[in-house]
Amino acid sequence: MVRDDVLRALELHRGGLISGGSLARELGVSRTAVWKAITTLREMGFPIESVAGEGYRLAESSDALSEAGIAMELKTDCIAREMCVLPTVDSTNTYLKERAAGLPDGYAVVADCQTAGRGRLGRSFLSPAGSGVYISILLHPTLPLEQINMITVGAAVASCEAIAEAAGFEADIKWVNDILKDGKKLCGILTEASMEAETGQLSYAIVGIGINVRRPKSGLPDDISNIAGCLEDFSLHPVRRNALTAAFFNHMESCYQLILSGQTEALMERYRSFIHFLGEPITVIRNGIKEPATAVAINSNGHLIIEQNGQQSHMLAGEISIRLPEQMH
Ligand code: BTN
Repeated sequence: MVRDDVLRALELHRGGLISGGSLARELGVSRTAVWKAITTLREMGFPIESVAGEGYRLAESSDALSEAGIAMELKTDCIAREMCVLPTVDSTNTYLKERAAGLPDGYAVVADCQTAGRGRLGRSFLSPAGSGVYISILLHPTLPLEQINMITVGAAVASCEAIAEAAGFEADIKWVNDILKDGKKLCGILTEASMEAETGQLSYAIVGIGINVRRPKSGLPDDISNIAGCLEDFSLHPVRRNALTAAFFNHMESCYQLILSGQTEALMERYRSFIHFLGEPITVIRNGIKEPATAVAINSNGHLIIEQNGQQSHMLAGEISIRLPEQMH
């Protein structure tokens, strides 16, 4: 589509001006087609500036999400090789679940806004326009069901590595899948799976990641204002959501390849490098009951080993929540 090609060209020339004539020549279309595409893109909200007699450019400050902007920095063979970028959707996980049967391994959906973003344990996930990036990836791995948590582990690693690359600071993983900085939650992960009843094999998994990039214009609601944080609270520079999303896909590809090839210990090593609460007192919340414990280790299956009254036990993902003491309120 000419519109997408024009956007791709503007992304590639970011910072410089490109004339309508050059765009038309480069894309092999008429100047009128270019002008129509620019009009449509502006109507869609892309801030395209024009300088009389010189040409067009994407405003330096533009942080509009687009397939063209993400694809430019993509280095993957599987993850997000096919994707769609939506201005708004109820939930990217729900969107993929409804279409899972016909879509390939690695298909990704990225949204600027979710009207019914979903979190773990039936919670909602605040997803206002222009402030974060909401991503889901459909995966069809050949994997025993009990290894499904490795997909969540991979997404947590890929999120931290993408944050380091695009926002320039190191975040922490709070087992099993919250990404924090200085105790503030920057990113949440929700993995959902469908199983074949007859074989007990995984038929597909959908991993959804929501990253808070900047504070919504309307501010954060009171109930999450001292729990949630945003990348731009900690980054020394503005964060480009297209670059962050592409970095996430690139790192997720390498994590997914480790899972598929059975090299989960290598993945766990990367995961552990972002875990900083081992040896610390934690509060385990099991069936609504809070108990003190000490975090001892994360084993090769991604299970948390805790110690209580001199006894060690394994905690499976999804079985418990943990709170670091400074987050208790
Ligand atoms: C949590 O912290 O409880 C998990 C939050 C997961 C949110 C992401 S945003 C993209 C994807 N779509 C959803 O509806 N949820 C996940």
